[in-house]
This record gives sequence, C-alpha cells and structure tokens, in this order.
Amino acid sequence: MSTILDIQDLKKTYNSGDRHLTVLEGINFSLQAGDTCSIVGPSGSGKTTLLGLCAGLDRASSGSVILNGVKLDNLSEDERAQVRNQYVGFIFQNFQLIPTLTAMENVMVPLELRGERNVQRQAMELLGRVGLAERHDHYPTQLSGGEQQRVSLARAFSNRPTILFADEPTGNLDEETGQRVEQLLFDLNRESGTTLVLVTHDLDLAEKTQRIIRIKGGNAVSDTGAPVSVSRDEL
Ligand SMILES: Nc1ncnc2c1ncn2[C@@H]1O[C@H](COP(=O)(O)OP(=O)(O)OP(=O)(O)O)[C@@H](O)[C@H]1O
Ligand SMILES: [Mg+2]
Repeated sequence: MSTILDIQDLKKTYNSGDRHLTVLEGINFSLQAGDTCSIVGPSGSGKTTLLGLCAGLDRASSGSVILNGVKLDNLSEDERAQVRNQYVGFIFQNFQLIPTLTAMENVMVPLELRGERNVQRQAMELLGRVGLAERHDHYPTQLSGGEQQRVSLARAFSNRPTILFADEPTGNLDEETGQRVEQLLFDLNRESGTTLVLVTHDLDLAEKTQRIIRIKGGNAVSDTGAPVSVSRDEL
C-alpha cells in the first residue's frame, strides 16, 4: 500500500479586508491508494474548502498537502495545475463546465491537455457511460443540473485520475440517476484502483465508503479511520 494523500496540520483562513474567517484549523489524515473516504459535516463547515486544498486547487494558510508524494505547499499555480492534470479528477459542487463548449467538448478538454489521440471518440464513450451520448452537442445552459453533473463526472473520468474528488456528486440527481453515478464512482475505484474522496450529505452514500471524516463547527475534525456509524443528525 502506498500513501496517496497526506494532510498535515492543515489550516485555512479566508481574509477579506480586515475580516478573517478561519474555516479549517489543523486537519490531519492520510489515505492509502485505492481507499474510499467520505467527508461529512454541516453546511459551511469547510468541506468544499478542504476538498479544494487536498486537490491542489487552492493553497492552505499553513500545513501540508502531499499528493502522490508531491508536496503542494510551495508550488506555483502552474505547477499545481500540472500535478492536478497528472493525477486528479475533480467533480465540483457547482459543476464548473465551460459555458462556451458543448458537453462533448467539455469532456475533451482534459484529454486534449494530455495530448491524447481519438479525443472525440473517448469523450463520446465517457458521455455514453453517464447516459448522455445523445446530448453531446448541447451547451451547459441547455442541460439540467443533473445532466451537467454527469458531464462533470465524465470530464473527471477522462483524466483517468489516480485520485478522484467529488463534491456532492449525487446532490442534484434523482434517486435512480444518483445510484447510477454512485455505481460509476465505485466501479472506477474497483476497476482502476482510483482513490475516492467524496463530500456528501447522503448518509447511505457515506456509509458505502471505507472511512468517514467528519468536520464540525467549521474548524474541528473527527476521523473514523474505519467503517463506522454516524448519526443522521450529524450530516
Ligand atoms: N473564497 C472565500 N472567501 C471567503 N469565505 C469563504 C470563501 N469560500 C468559502 N468561504 C466560507 O468558508 C466557510 C466554509 O465554506 P465551504 O464552502 O468550504 O463549506 P461546505 O462545508 O462545503 O458547505 P456546503 O455543505 O454548504 O457546501 C463558509 O462559511 C464560507 O462562507
Ligand atoms: Mg460545499
């Protein structure tokens, strides 16, 4: 087993003007390659913030993020982008599709960045896996929230990530589509050994991961380390 993600004493404070909001205060955990993990906690507790720091999308105020052996703390934005492109898939809470590109073109972006061949065919295949092949030429504004979510999933998969971060991946989906997305995530974990880190309010989904990390009160964390039960009030 190798450590894929090592988080050491991670702190994040947002500064705007003379206001300082400390969201994360000393988070520690590490994940082994192939692990599945959920991050749970109330709205505003810092789950999206933590996910973004783990994935190298943002920089911590202090502490360390070591992703697949690469210490992200002092890397430039470009260097972090390279690491992300090499190892990371990310499904955003608000999708973040490029509005001027069609569904297929959005999925093609990471493939093109990697200099791959047959990007159109690969993008169509990925859209097919999320049930959207027929909508490939639609722009994000022409898709429902759940459909945008699935394009975002296909785009994250196209990177063949070593580690996949998903912020509320089933949050906008009806039960049937949600289960299909869930299946795709766990299939990717099982078939490709992709490490999964999910933020979710869905207890049933959280309990399907090996481990649950709970953030509470915006700045504290408890970590189950092993399969556990979390009371529904805490999600
Ligand atoms: N760029 C920012 N600047 C200032 N404050 C921010 C910024 N991003 C997030 N925050 C604040 O940090 C806190 C944590 O936000 P975050 O989005 O991480 O919460 P969350 O746990 O993901 O919540 P939710 O479950 O609603 O998605 C919130 O109080 C939020 O207002
Ligand atoms: Mg969030």
